[in-house]
Amino acid sequence: MAQLFTKDTQAIFWNNNASAIQRMLDYDYTIKRKTPSVAGIVAPTSSNKFEKFFWGPDEVMVPLYKNTAEAKAHQPQADVLLNFASLRTAYDVTMEALEIGGFKSIMITAEGIPERLARRMNQAARDKNVIVIGPATVGGIVPGAFKIANVGGTIENIVNSKLHRAGSCGLVTRSGGLFNELSNIIAINADGIAEGVAIGGDRFVGSVFIDNLLRMQDNPEVKYMILLGEVGGTEEYKVIDAVKSGRITKPIIAWCIGTIAKYYDSGVQFGHAGASANAASETAEAKNKAMADAGIYVPATFNDLPTKIAEVYGKLKADGVIKNIPEPDMNMVPKVRRKKEFICTISDDRGDEATYAGFPISSVALPSTGKGIGDVISLLWFKKQYPKWATDFIETVIKTVADHGPAVSGAHNAKVTARAGKSVVESLVTGLLTIGPRFGGAIDGAAEHFKYADDNKLNPAEFLNHMKKLGIPIPGIGHRIKSLKNPDLRVKGLMDYAKECFPATPLLDYARTVEALTTSKKENLILNVDGTIGILMVDMWRALGYSEQEINEFIASGTLNAFFIAGRTIGFIGHVLDEKRLDMPMYRHPMDDILYDVQMADEI
Ligand code: ACO
Ligand code: LMR
Repeated sequence: MAQLFTKDTQAIFWNNNASAIQRMLDYDYTIKRKTPSVAGIVAPTSSNKFEKFFWGPDEVMVPLYKNTAEAKAHQPQADVLLNFASLRTAYDVTMEALEIGGFKSIMITAEGIPERLARRMNQAARDKNVIVIGPATVGGIVPGAFKIANVGGTIENIVNSKLHRAGSCGLVTRSGGLFNELSNIIAINADGIAEGVAIGGDRFVGSVFIDNLLRMQDNPEVKYMILLGEVGGTEEYKVIDAVKSGRITKPIIAWCIGTIAKYYDSGVQFGHAGASANAASETAEAKNKAMADAGIYVPATFNDLPTKIAEVYGKLKADGVIKNIPEPDMNMVPKVRRKKEFICTISDDRGDEATYAGFPISSVALPSTGKGIGDVISLLWFKKQYPKWATDFIETVIKTVADHGPAVSGAHNAKVTARAGKSVVESLVTGLLTIGPRFGGAIDGAAEHFKYADDNKLNPAEFLNHMKKLGIPIPGIGHRIKSLKNPDLRVKGLMDYAKECFPATPLLDYARTVEALTTSKKENLILNVDGTIGILMVDMWRALGYSEQEINEFIASGTLNAFFIAGRTIGFIGHVLDEKRLDMPMYRHPMDDILYDVQMADEI
């Protein structure tokens, strides 16, 4: 892989580090990326499904996941893991990600991971050909394409340091602070960087100088390289070997920080865990000399580094190796931004014509479109275009449950309310409020319990036993007036349709075996209309390719009862209008239909 990241690279960010993620998205917006560079966030303790971030003046939602496996399953294209876990969990998070696979690079920010674990982790990544950046790093950047977290600081600083578009330098440092410092120096003395990595300050880091420089050697965007090493370790010698062997041919400018160490009389460790010389060859002085001897451009002092950069860059420019870089158009991140209070993901009324899940209303509403209410429901409830067999099923359900006469609980309530002089909407809602676990609102419960029983391979007797233990009647079983002798033809109609048009009906087949047992006990314990709808909706969603988790979420949020609510609204309105049309007087229940059993209240 010659290029570390591209403009399409997306990452999974482990830990909801909102300010760092916002910086990434501000960068994306500035450089006009099409997609946010963070595709998902792993937030193990959050119960939220997404986090909102600014995208220029607007906001975008970045999904949250409980763990890396879930995030990767939903965002398979995200091949970078930004591991912002604490030093206690960073090792486990990296090892798990390597196990899951599909990551090309993993950046680890935690400092001080035990060295034994760091070595094992780095080796495991190397074995799987995964580039590790860090631990103990701010990360890296491919300007104009992808920036890790806080690299480069604020947007103002990024633009000042020419990190908003690719330059010609490949930069490798240990330190993150000095990475930013050098980016600025390179911007002033040359044309910015093409790719840069701060490999991290711990003694054992994943990718070392040579790994990054070899990649940059093979990256045509990189015309020369800058290596900022440190006292301690021998990694610079691998670079020297590569230069000597001709594996690296591009010019390298290098400097090892820590020449001051020789003025201390005992071995001194600088800020980084790895910044301490354990042998004469590990001193900054020795390494600077060895690099210079190998033909690497080494300035006389750190102060001379900018001049050296200007010199090498100037020569490459004069030789025509480096061309002028046109300044790209950039977006400006607004200074003042307001968070939105509401989110809508189903319809949009901002254009000339409002849309349902992206479809102009006329494209689904007009008869010429051939679309029906099933299409409208699939767009507005599920944000999907369902196939005809499924939209026809939805319409069949709606039409089937529209009314069941004046005597049922909800219609009765709506009628009584209308007769008390209330409006259509008031009367309607009293009817709707009657829908519940016994009447019309057993659909989600039926789906939940039958699905549970089938998923757990309970035979009908075991299922009945399980429900008995729960202490609730089986939702979707039983009817006041319908029975084996007086079959509910609505149920038959739905089942016949499903048998004919669904690809398969496994849950219905299971439910029929349960019904055989319940009706053998009592003939009105049939699979009722609620149960049939709930069970067939699960069969429908499975056939449409929904995951079990998505179906469980539909059930938990009450989606299935909504079909009854939508359908029965038609009938309730009919009953209310009937009352109005007939101008029926207020209703009073006949007293002889009430058993009065009132005792004198005891005094307490
Ligand atoms: N699961 C297990 N046993 C049941 C069930 C059930 N779903 N329904 C009734 N029974 C049993 C009762 O425990 C009772 O047993 P018992 O005689 O040993 O005491 C017997 O059958 C009769 O019970 P009732 O409540 O009198 O039955 P009823 O016919 O009055 O009730 C009702 C009908 C309310 C629908 C009931 O069957 C029930 O609660 N079912 C589950 C909820 C449901 O599916 N509702 C939707 C109905 S369809 C619609 O409203 C559009
Ligand atoms: C209905 O659809 O309302 C019925 O199944 C309930 C009933 O009591 O008939």
